[in-house]
Amino acid sequence: MAKTLIRNMWYVAGWSEEFLPGRLVGQTIVGLPIVLWRVDGGAGEVTALDGRCCHKRMPLASGKLLPDGTLECAYHGLCFNAEGKCVKIPTQPNSPIPTRAKVRPYPVVEQDGLVWVWMGDASPGESRPPRVPEMKSAGWECIHQPNSTVEANYLLLIENLLDISHFYPLHDGNIGDEAHSEIPVEFDFTSIDGNRSIKCIRQAKNYHHPPYLADFFGYDVVDRYHTHAMISPGIVRVDLRCAPPGQLGTAAERGYILTHMITPIDEASHNWRIGVTCKADHRWLGDPSISAARRVATQFPAVVAQDLWALVEQQRMFDVGDERYPGEMHLRSDAALLKAREIVRDLVAAESKAAATV
Ligand code: FES
Ligand SMILES: [Fe+2]
Repeated sequence: MAKTLIRNMWYVAGWSEEFLPGRLVGQTIVGLPIVLWRVDGGAGEVTALDGRCCHKRMPLASGKLLPDGTLECAYHGLCFNAEGKCVKIPTQPNSPIPTRAKVRPYPVVEQDGLVWVWMGDASPGESRPPRVPEMKSAGWECIHQPNSTVEANYLLLIENLLDISHFYPLHDGNIGDEAHSEIPVEFDFTSIDGNRSIKCIRQAKNYHHPPYLADFFGYDVVDRYHTHAMISPGIVRVDLRCAPPGQLGTAAERGYILTHMITPIDEASHNWRIGVTCKADHRWLGDPSISAARRVATQFPAVVAQDLWALVEQQRMFDVGDERYPGEMHLRSDAALLKAREIVRDLVAAESKAAATV
């Protein structure tokens, strides 16, 4: 697989609540170690710094936060403020602190219940992380699925999420059936939030829902509007709406939004976070004491497990090497994943070109 890591991009470093008072969070994103924490004793913004001490490369996430808000390195005790500037060298208390005693800060934006970090060499300029307001809005209930570390290249997950034709057979018996694979797919490649984006649209009328969807929403036969959108290489949003025939857009409409946050660790692994969002007043018809979002969220791990299995198996075959493999044979339904590869390839090439001209 060609190089796929892109630095000039916003990535989700975590849900807001992952950044607890007094806690250092160490991560690797696009191959770069970083350390994050919430400043002002845990009441303030999240800061992100290069994760390697400028003295002897000790991981700063192994250090500790001091009462004065600085981060003390675990090895020789250099202390760094939230901007990454060294403010104390214990062995040289009476000497000026060298100007090189600092670690690089990374831009951070916290919005919609998510902490985003910009891993680029270049400034983000006007670029802002994509918005997903329904994940933290009064009219919606958002349930966070357990985070997964996936031992596969992140592009395989993006391809999986855009490739709805795999619902049968991979998800047969829960969200998939063979009829689903026959629903025609349309593609929209216009940009979203300033990013080159991909939207796959599947519309069906008088469609017999597969078992999970019939269970989630209480309808066996529906009109359905279903989109999968890669907003940027860091986020894919799935929007499913259904209603009894002829009633889409009315009060009978039910659905969910699945927000997939994809954060590459390196070329061979990534973090996968999922938010399951439904309208706050929608209940599960099987037991109205349970919300629709809760019902979807409790059933979904089985689907995720099937995707995880496929991703790791695919990566295992990538790792075999290509000498006797003739190359992938693509189908009409692969148009979206080919576009995703093109976008990633273009972004990687643009970064390589920019780096070569510095
Ligand atoms: S490695 Fe951090 S203080 Fe020496
Ligand atoms: Fe899947």
